[in-house]
Amino acid sequence: MKFFVSTPLYYTNAPLHLGHAYTTIAADVVARYKRMRGYDVFFLTGTDEHGLKVEKAAVADGKKPKEFVDELVPEIKELWKKLEISYDHFVRTTDGYHERQVQGVLQKLYDQGDIYKGTYEGWYCLPCESFWTDLQLADGKCPDCGRGVQKSKEETYFFKMSKYRDKLLKLFDENKQFVQPEYRRSEVLNFFRDELKDLSISRATLKWGIPLPFDSSHVTYVWFDALFNYWTALAYDGDKKRQATFWPADVHLVGKEILRFHAVYWPAMLFAAGLPAPKTVYAHGWWTVEGQKMSKSRGNVVDPHDILDNYDADAFRYFLLREVPFGMDGDFSEKALIQRINNDLASEYGNLLNRTLVMIERYSNKAIPPAGPKGENEAALAAAAEKCVAFYSAKMDAYEFHHALEGIWEFVKEANKYVNDSEPWNLAKNNDARLNTVLACLAESLRLSTLLLAPFIPVKADEAWKQLGYSGKASEQKFADAKWGLFKPGTKTSRGNVLFEQIK
Ligand code: MSP
Repeated sequence: MKFFVSTPLYYTNAPLHLGHAYTTIAADVVARYKRMRGYDVFFLTGTDEHGLKVEKAAVADGKKPKEFVDELVPEIKELWKKLEISYDHFVRTTDGYHERQVQGVLQKLYDQGDIYKGTYEGWYCLPCESFWTDLQLADGKCPDCGRGVQKSKEETYFFKMSKYRDKLLKLFDENKQFVQPEYRRSEVLNFFRDELKDLSISRATLKWGIPLPFDSSHVTYVWFDALFNYWTALAYDGDKKRQATFWPADVHLVGKEILRFHAVYWPAMLFAAGLPAPKTVYAHGWWTVEGQKMSKSRGNVVDPHDILDNYDADAFRYFLLREVPFGMDGDFSEKALIQRINNDLASEYGNLLNRTLVMIERYSNKAIPPAGPKGENEAALAAAAEKCVAFYSAKMDAYEFHHALEGIWEFVKEANKYVNDSEPWNLAKNNDARLNTVLACLAESLRLSTLLLAPFIPVKADEAWKQLGYSGKASEQKFADAKWGLFKPGTKTSRGNVLFEQIK
């Protein structure tokens, strides 16, 4: 069983921000969840280093493009480390294996007559690196980002994308999972249903790119180059077998603004290359910051490094995926982040762990006791646990992370209520045999919720796992163990630091 999940390749023209961290964290959660489910996972991320945008940024910094991007990449890798991103490979579009394979594809397409020379007349949006015709412009601006466009008339090579329109229609018709969430499907379909234009895939006026193998006076259009990474990177070390096994991708996670590139251009390019389309392209929404669009000019760009100076990486990961339904737009504020930390992580989950471990210490000599007689409350808690696990797996499979988390918190709330209802401190006073039952059920609730949380908060889950007395790491457990009642009586607990501190 294999699973291939990717993030977009981020442009190396400026440091990464909150939005880039978001896609990458989501992909990491998917990768960790699928590993837990026993899949052989390939999790790919990397950088998109060619094109006019990067070249301009390098010139502005007084550097050669390659020198410029070489300096940015370690910073990006450092950020992924801090955010506990468990990628299997980091691809750079300047990597030799990538450039060679892209040239191989270009040559193949040229030889089979899918690439021809012509003149491009239209408009170019630099921030989006996209071409537009007069008709497509919105009030003379880029229809995607609303910014100004530059007139462009130049000799170029075109990719006969129009030839693949029928195949694309068939893809959309046969695979209803291809574009997710469902509500984005028709907007993409509308883009090519009536007409699909050939795509300009080279530029003679630019130096910073992959030279066309059949005409070295042109470099490859940055999107044609970058999209192919998803396939070339699978053979980064020349292992064609991995490439054959893992392609097609199971899911490309992308922001909504680049959905069209992934759901129209990319499958058309793959069809031309004789390869199947990815199974799913999932588009998520955009973050604003305190109600405002993030932008350099507003000076409100959220640098994840700054957040991580003040907040725990796991708390940040949790917040981003809990706060907003994946697919929808959302708003970031430190206030909202603090609320999530205080309410969900500290008061509910963290407190359940802490109070349970304190009671096991006090009443059971730091060992999870065997359960004693069980009643209605225990049956209800067990049923809630089973419901939570089933709900979680359905929601995780559908990329509805906020629902999966919501489900866990419903269960954690049940467990906290169970403490209050069963009053273990009174059972202890009265030497009641049900005390062991309560402690065992609480430890079991924690084992389960910690396991399910591991893809989201890997470091804290490992810490909780250790405090509960279990060996190994929560983040390395198998989903098959997410079953009520598998705990081991006699396990020695070791309460440590409070998992999440309340923030004033
Ligand atoms: N280089 C292209 C992608 C090529 S993929 C073969 C690109 N790069 S990017 O650096 O602009 O990053 C795009 C990604 O950043 C989007 O997919 C989106 O995930 C993320 N975001 C950028 N700003 C964002 C927000 N404000 N909110 C959420 N995510 C956004 O496009």
